[in-house]
Amino acid sequence: MTMKQHIAILLTSCLLPVGLIQAAPSSNVAWTVETHRMVKNGDPAIGAKIETVETEDVNACTDCHGKGGAEPDRDKHPTLAGQVAAYTYKQLRDYKDGSRKNRLMSEAVERLTDEQLAALAAWYAEQPLAKVEVDEEDTVSETTVELVFRGDKTRMIQPCASCHGPRGEGAIIDVPAIAGQNVKYFVNTMKDYAKEKRANDIYSRMRIIAKALTRDEINELAVYYARLGSGQDGGGLKQASAE
Ligand code: HEC
Ligand code: HEC
Repeated sequence: MTMKQHIAILLTSCLLPVGLIQAAPSSNVAWTVETHRMVKNGDPAIGAKIETVETEDVNACTDCHGKGGAEPDRDKHPTLAGQVAAYTYKQLRDYKDGSRKNRLMSEAVERLTDEQLAALAAWYAEQPLAKVEVDEEDTVSETTVELVFRGDKTRMIQPCASCHGPRGEGAIIDVPAIAGQNVKYFVNTMKDYAKEKRANDIYSRMRIIAKALTRDEINELAVYYARLGSGQDGGGLKQASAE
């Protein structure tokens, strides 16, 4: 073998895995009949128990997210209360197999079965949306409210409400409630989508939008949606009763 051929082989063997990683799907959760059945059969009473379990290495869910996912200990921890069950289930599965990357969360779910993840999702879906603190001085401009209901055709931004619902309550199948979300977490996760650090959104639905928004718009959208929470019923319940 010549040196050139040798280098060529070395190069292809280095490049191949990179190609495979890029071709990997954004999520391994497929919305088959079985997945829907799994989410639908999640037992909230079991979820309520699991969220308080702590082991030697891993904190309980409640330590970081609060009881029922409604009182996170820090504002960079998301609220989970009132969340659409299919969305929560998908996120937990994505953390478990690494499609969504976060060390704390992967450790929290690695010991749990899919049935237990569905039980947790059903438990959070039953709660009203969280009431989160928002600085009274934070204002939301009219152009930002326009993004919510009309989008911006010039930048190919679809209205948020067309997917997340008129009150940010979430929708079928796996579109999350974003009302009542912590401002800091909301902003962080939008930045993560924009930087492709979070890439588990099927068809890049959120990455495309997050990249098109300015930083100020993201901040104001976070405030707008945080204020919509305040104890309204989440989309979670509505979906659980829908066939
Ligand atoms: C040590 C703190 C900690 C523990 C324990 C923890 N979480 Fe989390 N959780 C986080 C953080 C931080 C994030 C945001 C990570 C990110 O940006 O991806 C998160 C994200 C989530 C999300 C995604 C929320 C969304 O809106 O997309 C869900 C669902 C969730 N956690 C559920 C759980 C459950 C269920 C447990 C227990 C089995 C748990 N967490 C334990 C800190 C924690
Ligand atoms: C085409 C449908 C669609 C539109 C339009 C849309 N979203 Fe989303 N959004 C989604 C889906 C689906 C997800 C969940 C993706 C995943 O699994 O990570 C999501 C996730 C999010 C999240 C993360 C929620 C969490 O708990 O981590 C935020 C924040 C968000 N969207 C805000 C917005 C805002 C603000 C707008 C308008 C500027 C918007 N979205 C427009 C479909 C949409």
